Amino acid sequence: MITRQKSVDRFVDRSGSAGAAVQLPHAWKDKITYFSWITLYEPDKYPNIRLNSQEMKLLEQMMKISNVENHCKRVMALSLKIGNHMGIEIEMAKTLVTAASFHDVGKLVILQSVLFGNKELSEKEHLINHMHPEYGRRMMHLISPKGTEVCAAGEIISQHHEKMDGSGYPRGLRGRDIGLPARIIAVADEFDGLTKPKPYQQKALMSPEAAAKQIAANAGKEFDPQVVRHFLEIMVEERMV
Ligand SMILES: [Fe+2]
Repeated sequence: MITRQKSVDRFVDRSGSAGAAVQLPHAWKDKITYFSWITLYEPDKYPNIRLNSQEMKLLEQMMKISNVENHCKRVMALSLKIGNHMGIEIEMAKTLVTAASFHDVGKLVILQSVLFGNKELSEKEHLINHMHPEYGRRMMHLISPKGTEVCAAGEIISQHHEKMDGSGYPRGLRGRDIGLPARIIAVADEFDGLTKPKPYQQKALMSPEAAAKQIAANAGKEFDPQVVRHFLEIMVEERMV
């Protein structure tokens, strides 16, 4: 039985020994508490997901930072709806659920002043913030060996801010070089970001209709047009627009 503190320490130790530039700052440790994996993961629907209990506990702990957790839950739910609407295979759906659930986990290693400060970010702080997809990938890889579900999700997490026209970050990938689950998460993430409040942002929220229009206007530039089409169909079917 792994204790909460030991589990976090294991992560910190392993990140250090692997030589990666990923460390869970000590200040974050006190804020990490348990979260019900069951409500997040719907295990009845996905009985074959290969996470061991240590991996699950560690991920739960990492996600307890409330604003990251709630945003990720909503993005996971909408991503899964889009994926199902597109008829993706069950294996891809599993990767999609894991990646969407933890797509912003890399933010946990970024300083609070960068994430939650009220002032404009400096150029350097922007660069740090733009590393969160890559930090997320490394975190997933550190806790799980190659070939596992968590590891596959890490690759998708690293791509969730890439854009179809190559203007995204951190690598500037284009088109189908971006995995389909990442293209789906990008649309769900944008919709949630435009319509739901974040404790550290003061910007005005959009109505679902206005957000859907903005996303539609960027189909083919920022977002995969096929993904956007299915997203818009869901919005209409659910009478959100
Ligand atoms: Fe993100």
